[in-house]
Amino acid sequence: MAGREVFGEEELNEVVEVLKRGVLFRYGFEKEREGVFKVSEFEKNFAEYIGSKFALAVSSGSAALKVALESLNLPKGKEIITSCFTFVATIEAIEEAGFKPVLCEIDETLNIDPNDLERKISENTVAIIPVHMMGSASKIDRIMEIAKEKNLKVIEDNCQSTGASFKGKKLGTFGDIGCFSFDYVKVMTTGEGGMVVTNDEEIYKQAEFYHDHGHPHLQGVGRGEEKRERKGFNFRMNEIQGAIGLAQLKKLNSIIERQKENKKTIKEEIKNIELLKFRELPDPDGEIATFLAFFLPDKEKTEKFKSKMKENGVNPAILNYWHFTANVESCGGEYPQSQDILDRCVSIEIKTLMDEETINKTIDAIKKAASSI
Ligand SMILES: Cc1ncc(COP(=O)(O)O)c(C=O)c1O
Repeated sequence: MAGREVFGEEELNEVVEVLKRGVLFRYGFEKEREGVFKVSEFEKNFAEYIGSKFALAVSSGSAALKVALESLNLPKGKEIITSCFTFVATIEAIEEAGFKPVLCEIDETLNIDPNDLERKISENTVAIIPVHMMGSASKIDRIMEIAKEKNLKVIEDNCQSTGASFKGKKLGTFGDIGCFSFDYVKVMTTGEGGMVVTNDEEIYKQAEFYHDHGHPHLQGVGRGEEKRERKGFNFRMNEIQGAIGLAQLKKLNSIIERQKENKKTIKEEIKNIELLKFRELPDPDGEIATFLAFFLPDKEKTEKFKSKMKENGVNPAILNYWHFTANVESCGGEYPQSQDILDRCVSIEIKTLMDEETINKTIDAIKKAASSI
C-alpha cells in the first residue's frame, strides 16, 4: 500500500525544479516561479487520470472531506450517513463541518451494506459518504440508486482507493464530489496531501474558495486586493507536495499492476483452503490490491489464525481500533453485523515491492495458520 516504496529520481527532479526557484506557495509570485505551477499541473493531470472535470488539491485526505462537505452548502445540524468501518477522519470531518454522523453496518465487501443504508435514512438525512475501504469499491451502483431515489448528496471517501474503479469508471467520480488522500501510507503519496474531484463547476468553485479563506483566485489580481467570496479556512497544498504528486501519479498504474500481481500469486496458492472465505469484491478487476482479506468461521478461530501467522513472521493488519471502535465510541450505537464481520476478518497488506521470499513467507504463514485450526 505504498507509493513511498518507489520514490526515485522522478520525485527528486520534480522537487528540485521547485526549490531552484524557491516558490513553495501555489499561487502568485509569477516572476520568481518562471512558469512552474506544480500544484495546478498536478490537479490537471489528476483530473484527467480520474476522469473528472475539476480537481482541487488540498493539504490532506481529512481536509478533502471537510472541504467537500463545506462545498455542498448543506443545512448544518443535519444527518450524514457513513460506514461504521472507516478511518476515524470520516466521522471527524462530518462533526467538524457541523453535521451529525449516522453509522451504517458493513457487509462482506467491508463497505456500506446498502440494506442498512436504506434503514438508516431519516427525514434529517442530507448526504451519504460511501467509503471505498482497503482498495476496493463499495456497492456504489446501488448506493447511487438509493441516493437518487431519496434526493441525497453523495460524497465519496476514496482516501484508501486512489486509482480503483467500478465497471470501468474511477471511484470518486460517482457522487457529487470525491475525496482522496496522499498521506505517507497511501498507494500514492505526497507525504501529506489530498484531492477533491467533481464534475460540477459550482461545487468546484465553492471548494476552491473554501479551501483558501474564500479567495476567488482571480487572474492578474493580487491576493490582498481580492474580495472574499465566502467563509473558509486554509487547506492549501504546497508546491513541494504538488511536485511529488506529479511524479507519483505517473507511477500509479504500475504500482497497482505490481500489487495485483503480488496479490494474485498469494491468492492462487491459498484459494483452495476451504476454511477461508474471501472478501467480496464488487469489481475484482477494478480493485488496487492494497490488501488481501478473508474471513474465518468465528472470532476464536480468527484470533488463533492471526497469532499463528504472527508466530510464522507475518503480521496481519489491525483493522478494528482506529477504523471501528473509535467510530462507535464517537457515535454510539451497536453494529453487530459489522462487529461479527470484523471479528472474523484477516487482512494482509500487499506491498508494491514484494520479493519472492516475502511472498513465499506470506503463503507459508497462511497455510501453517490454516492447518493449525
Ligand atoms: C477512509 C479514510 N478517510 C480519510 C482519511 C484521512 O486521510 P489523511 O490521512 O490524508 O488525512 C484516511 C486516511 O487514512 C482514510 O483511510
